[in-house]
Amino acid sequence: MSLLESLFGGGARGLIGLDISSSSVKLLELARRGSQYAVESFALEPLPPGVVADKQIIDPAVVGQAVTRAVERAGTRTRQAAVAVAGSAVITKPIAMPAGLDDNALEEQIKAEADQYLPYPIDEVALDFQVAGAGRSAGDNATVEVLLAACRKEQVENRLAALEIAGLTPAVVDVEACALENACQFLRHQMPDGGRERTIAVVDMGASTTSVLVLLDGKPVYTRDQAFGGKQLTEDIMRYYDLSLPEAGKAKRSGTLPETYFSELLPHFFDDMSQQIDRSFQYYFASAAGGRQIDQVILAGGCAQIEGVEAQLQQRLQRPTVVARPLAQMAVASRARPQHLAKEEPSLLIALGLAFRAFDEES
Ligand SMILES: Nc1ncnc2c1ncn2[C@@H]1O[C@H](COP(=O)(O)OP(=O)(O)OP(=O)(O)O)[C@@H](O)[C@H]1O
Ligand SMILES: [Mg+2]
Repeated sequence: MSLLESLFGGGARGLIGLDISSSSVKLLELARRGSQYAVESFALEPLPPGVVADKQIIDPAVVGQAVTRAVERAGTRTRQAAVAVAGSAVITKPIAMPAGLDDNALEEQIKAEADQYLPYPIDEVALDFQVAGAGRSAGDNATVEVLLAACRKEQVENRLAALEIAGLTPAVVDVEACALENACQFLRHQMPDGGRERTIAVVDMGASTTSVLVLLDGKPVYTRDQAFGGKQLTEDIMRYYDLSLPEAGKAKRSGTLPETYFSELLPHFFDDMSQQIDRSFQYYFASAAGGRQIDQVILAGGCAQIEGVEAQLQQRLQRPTVVARPLAQMAVASRARPQHLAKEEPSLLIALGLAFRAFDEES
C-alpha cells in the first residue's frame, strides 16, 4: 500500500476510470479524504488508428491489449472499472412517466414504451434510466421525469469484452457526456466566481470529435458534438510532409516539425477549430437555453495540449480562454508519474469523470 493510499484511505470502493477513445486508452484512479482528492494511478496507452472510430470499438481484442498495458503501467491492483459509451450509438432522452411506480414497475413500463423513442429494435439495445425529479409543469405530481439512456448492445458488449481481456470487472457503464459533466466540478477553481451565475463553455477537443458543453451556474444547459479534431491536423501533416499517419502523429506531439508547420498548418487548424467551436456557440445561442453570453471558454482534450492554443483560440473566439487544469488541486502519488500526468492533464476529463464514480454511494 502506498503512502498516499494510507493518507487518503482509498476510494469508497476501488474503481478505475477508463476512457477508451479514438487515439488512446486513458486510465485514472482517485482517492479521497474529506473534500480532498488525490490521483492514485494513471496511464495513457496509444491505440492504433481505426481500432475505435466514431466512439465505437471496432476491434475489442486490440483495445483489450491496450487496456492490459494501461493497467500494468498504472501499477494499480484495482480491478473494478468504469467505462463510458458515446457517439451515435447512444441516445439519452428525458421522458415523462407516471409517478408512484416502484423501480421494477417503472422498468417494465419504460421497456414497453421505449421502442417509440429508439431508432433500433429493442432487443438490440441496452437500456438504463434515472429518475430526474417531479414532472416539468409546476404542481405536476402525476408524472416524474425520467432520463432514459439507450445504447446499441454491441457497443456495451465490445467494451465488456475489452475489459475482460485485461482481467477487469465492469462496475459502471456511463455515458460519455455525463462523465464530462461530472468532471466539470474539478474546473470550478478556474472559473470566474467559481462559475456561480456564469456561463462557461467547456470544449473537449479530441482526436476525432470536439464536444462543446455549456454550463450555467455550474449546471449543464447545452451540449453538442462535432466530427472534427486533432486527426485533421495529423492528416494535414501527413500529406504536407509525406509522412505515414503514425509518423505524422508523433511529429505533431513532439513539436519537431519544420517552420511551415507553425506558419501555415497550425494557424489553418486553429482557424478551422475556432469556426467549428463558434458554430456550436451559435447553436447554443439559438437554443432555448441560450439567452446569455459566454463568460469564459475552458479548453480540454488532447488539442488543448498544443503549444500556444490558449492565446490563439482566445483571439479567434473573442472570449476569455483558459486550458483545463482539472487536477490542479489534487495531490499525485509518485506511482502516477506526476510529470507525465501534468502533460496529459487537459485530455483527462472523461477519465476523471469516470474515476469519480467511485464516490457515488458515499455522498
Ligand atoms: N502535445 C500535443 N500537441 C499536439 N497535439 C496533441 C498533443 N497531445 C495530444 N495531441 C492530439 O490530441 C488528440 C488526442 O486528444 P484526446 O486524447 O483528447 O482524443 P481522444 O479522446 O482519443 O479522441 P475522441 O474523444 O475524439 O475519440 C490527437 O489528435 C493528438 O495528436
Ligand atoms: Mg475524448
